[in-house]
Amino acid sequence: MALPNVNPTTTPSWKKLQSHFEAVKDVHMKDLFANDADRADKMTIKWDDFYVDFSKNRITEETLGYLLELADDVKLKEAIQSQFSGEIINKTEGRAVLHAALRAPESATFNVEGQNVMPEVYKAKQKIEGFANEVINGERKGYTGKVFTDVVNIGIGGSDLGPAMVVDSLQYYKNHLTTHFVSNVDGDHVNEVIKKLDPETTLFVVVSKTFTTQETLSNANTIKSWFLKSANETAIAKHFVAVSTNLESVKNFGIDENNIFPMWDWVGGRFSLWSAVGLTISLAVGYNNFASLLDGANKMDNHFKNEDFKNNIPVVLALISIWYNNFFKAESEAVIPYSQYLNQFATYLQQGIMESNGKSIDRNGNPVNYETGTLIWGEPGTNSQHAFFQLIHQGTKLIPADFIGFTKSLHGNQDHQDKLISNFLAQTEALLNGKTEAEVVAEGTKEDIVPFKVFKGNKPTNTIFINKLSPESLGKLIAMYEHKIFVQGIIWNIYSYDQFGVELGKQLASKILQEFNNSAVNEHDSSTHNLLNYYRKMS
Ligand code: F6P
Repeated sequence: MALPNVNPTTTPSWKKLQSHFEAVKDVHMKDLFANDADRADKMTIKWDDFYVDFSKNRITEETLGYLLELADDVKLKEAIQSQFSGEIINKTEGRAVLHAALRAPESATFNVEGQNVMPEVYKAKQKIEGFANEVINGERKGYTGKVFTDVVNIGIGGSDLGPAMVVDSLQYYKNHLTTHFVSNVDGDHVNEVIKKLDPETTLFVVVSKTFTTQETLSNANTIKSWFLKSANETAIAKHFVAVSTNLESVKNFGIDENNIFPMWDWVGGRFSLWSAVGLTISLAVGYNNFASLLDGANKMDNHFKNEDFKNNIPVVLALISIWYNNFFKAESEAVIPYSQYLNQFATYLQQGIMESNGKSIDRNGNPVNYETGTLIWGEPGTNSQHAFFQLIHQGTKLIPADFIGFTKSLHGNQDHQDKLISNFLAQTEALLNGKTEAEVVAEGTKEDIVPFKVFKGNKPTNTIFINKLSPESLGKLIAMYEHKIFVQGIIWNIYSYDQFGVELGKQLASKILQEFNNSAVNEHDSSTHNLLNYYRKMS
């Protein structure tokens, strides 16, 4: 069964939302709270160790009702079913989308073309576990017999951002291995990392689903050449491992067959950290923590699959986001974690969200006549308060924001934690209420300054409060956003799992690269032509 194929703007619920929007667009959330003492209770989902309060949004119960109708009108339930049953829902690439299988229990069944993939998933997990244990406990050694001290993940996009974000987020749980990530084709990146390494004690994990990615192969080759200045070819088998679907190319690169960890077509790059792409995670925090991350994601999968839409965290967050994107015409959303550990979280989400839903052709192959996709950005609080919050508070743009916080800090410094969480709560309160002219005047502000100090408020936020940052809760949080992406793709009637938009630039770059060494420069627009020649002259 193919994915349902419904233009959302033709549904009865969309029409209801349109006229409802006209009626409520200027309503202030302050009044919604004043008129309903139970608003926060009604608009909070408590699930496991998650407390998700979405009451500080410009929605009423009527809005939610219509949004939930929209989910039914676009046949979201059937779409979820199609995804989890292994159907080829990534139609443009002819693939199933089964990252959920990677975190399911061994007893589960996920069929791809009639074949249950779980046995191979668990075989790969065993290999990851065994390998990670041997490196961590020092059984596996480098070519001079020394134990490994450093691990370098070489990959880009989904083969870098997921592992890098998780390792950074879980640094509290880290072991003695020092981890590095090389991604950019900018040679200064790889050289800065190499500076810190000892070839005798460094393990290299080359991660590339396709094993054709220019950046990853260039970095892997540069590192291999550097390594071979100290070691001979036979040492590669001890120091280089790969994660890929392209076994032939990995072997041609010189990596030992036993050192190849599998990947599958039915796992998209940006959803792959749960597979062997997460090998560096297992090495950095140990396999048990990696397994807890997967368990957390599996719990969120079950919540998403089984919970009624009105109490379903990813579904509700997706619907609210559609409300802002398509009715208020908000262009971006901010994600503000009140945890320095989640420093890379927004960067990670950028690929997941924008590579998935940055599409303008619907599932019929026709251009959409409505907005899709969301610009995602963010930085941890409280730093971001001193950077871009001014614009969210008093600028002209509507920027819905997710505030993510943890009730307990990991190091247990209660003074800092209380200050952090007081800011976390204060910001969403300030964004909701703002500050009226009367309040500014009452503070004794000089008359001519009053307008500058007024905050309109009515700025929407979701508060996602989690007990503690742990591998399990992080797994839940990541999976929550993955499912939000899926729901939005279904509603927008687009294919979320291809990424053809990144191809054109790659093709042109390889053409231009050849031209650097050619006297004849092929046809370009005059700007590119001049820039290319300027570079040839100056470099
Ligand atoms: O940016 C395009 C992309 O294909 C991503 O989807 C992917 O995560 C990344 O490149 C890396 O691809 P690979 O793992 O094949 O090297």
